[in-house]
Amino acid sequence: MAYDLVVIGTGPGGYVCAIRAAQLGMKVAVVEKDKTFGGTCLNVGCIPSKALLYASHLFEDAGHAFAGMGIGVSKPKLDLAQMMKFKDEGVDGNVKGVDFLFRKNKIDAFRGKGRIAAPGKVEVATGNGKNETIETKAIVIATGSDVARLSGIEIDEKRVVSSTGALALPKVPERLLVVGAGVIGLELGSVWRRLGAKVEVVEFLDRILPGMDGEIARQFQRVQEKQGIKFRLGAKITGIDGKGKTLKASVEPANGGKAETLEADAVLVAIGRVPYTDGLGLAEAGVALDNRKRVVVDAHYQTNVAGIFAIGDVIAGPMLAHKAEDEGVAVAEILAGHAGHVNYDAIPNVIYTFPEVASVGKTEEELKAAGIQYRAGKFPFTANGRAKVNRTTEGFVKILADAETDRVYGVHIIGADAGTLIGEVTLAIEIGASAEDIARTCHAHPTTSEAVKEAALAVDGRPIHM
Ligand code: FAD
Ligand code: NAI
Repeated sequence: MAYDLVVIGTGPGGYVCAIRAAQLGMKVAVVEKDKTFGGTCLNVGCIPSKALLYASHLFEDAGHAFAGMGIGVSKPKLDLAQMMKFKDEGVDGNVKGVDFLFRKNKIDAFRGKGRIAAPGKVEVATGNGKNETIETKAIVIATGSDVARLSGIEIDEKRVVSSTGALALPKVPERLLVVGAGVIGLELGSVWRRLGAKVEVVEFLDRILPGMDGEIARQFQRVQEKQGIKFRLGAKITGIDGKGKTLKASVEPANGGKAETLEADAVLVAIGRVPYTDGLGLAEAGVALDNRKRVVVDAHYQTNVAGIFAIGDVIAGPMLAHKAEDEGVAVAEILAGHAGHVNYDAIPNVIYTFPEVASVGKTEEELKAAGIQYRAGKFPFTANGRAKVNRTTEGFVKILADAETDRVYGVHIIGADAGTLIGEVTLAIEIGASAEDIARTCHAHPTTSEAVKEAALAVDGRPIHM
């Protein structure tokens, strides 16, 4: 049967693209090589990591914060197998949801590894050496990304793990060494620290969270250190000796120098992710990749080969589920003749630790580098009523707005609800609002969102509660 669209990969980019295209009246098929739909995000990414972050946070609160609120519980005992079951059930519910949505939208699903045989032809390896060929008007590559590896260090997913192994450790390691102070290192490092591991993070650069607003990153590092995570910045791991009972990692300064040995029971390698295009037939089809092996697309997500498009982690831009989803919607709308579009200036970024970190738009460093005159308004959660009463006063909201027009360029938040608060300011940036627009919007009391309003007032030097 001929399709209007075949999407290869059913992560947040692929499955959302397929649904939107079906809504627009197209005949759509998806191809997925893994047992379940949902890609990295639902199976081994966003969803399982958030389940463990939630459960481990409550575990820590039960041990430390409950008593102060008059909730008497005996010292919490960890049942790690049950916590993993809690996580797995959450994943299961989500991947089944995608299955349901495919059926609801009459999307055909082909199981097996997809390969582009030619424009308009996708070959699916359906097992036992058999192939099925699907004919289609358009192909969307949504094959996502894979773990980046360190040369000379083998990831066995038992003691030396990637995020996938770190989401399923059978026991809490006494000492966890994390390579890379990025989002995965800090989220999963937090999970295992809360459950009892001694966590040390080795980072190549002289700062954590590259790309994040510098002031936020510095404050976040202080908070993490207070919680017990150790950081070794400007350092690199050059090898891991796994012969003995404990792992012995060689660490040396990033620019070279005297090596040291760090012992650990598990090592998490979290140095980024790389686009996944293995066996997709891109070279044969003539699809161009950039120097980082990402599929190159134009403003309409079309590759250099007519009829072949790409979205999500496999193309340039932040490797985020919601970015992949929005590109999925955009390309489906473009294929249907509409004006699909993604505003890359308004893509929020959240780190789901405690407190959370969230940001959208430009950082101070970016504004300075671009020579843009801006005003910054800051408001700390220590002055927010709800945060005070909940005793979640760590952090602040920072709003950066144009010095003349007051248009909001960027918002950076560290605080308990940062991931939720970023929604309102993302909308502000999307619609081109000014800080004054946020300041004059009525915010419910008592909520942490009042800190956003106060930061907007602070842009003009008139916060009320500070
Ligand atoms: P993917 O989700 O990677 O999906 C690609 C799919 O394509 C997979 O199912 C794969 O099996 C399939 N596939 C690949 N090749 C073929 C082929 N040849 N034939 C058939 N199928 C194929 N992002 C957030 O926004 N928020 C978070 O909280 C967050 N947490 C994360 C936590 C972790 C531990 C990790 C690793 C990532 C996290 N991310 C998070 C990033 C997020 O998971 C990705 O940005 C997102 O999944 C990208 O979506 P995608 O559709 O491009 O690709
Ligand atoms: P990352 O790019 O966020 O961080 C990698 C870190 O490793 C960087 O700080 C980098 O400087 C460092 N590094 C690189 N090579 C190194 C080396 N040899 N030695 C020591 N440090 C080294 O990548 P991460 O954490 O692996 O996450 C991958 C992607 O997944 C991210 O791009 C992120 O967008 C996505 N993700 C998103 C989440 C969220 O939105 N909450 C959660 C988890 C992942």
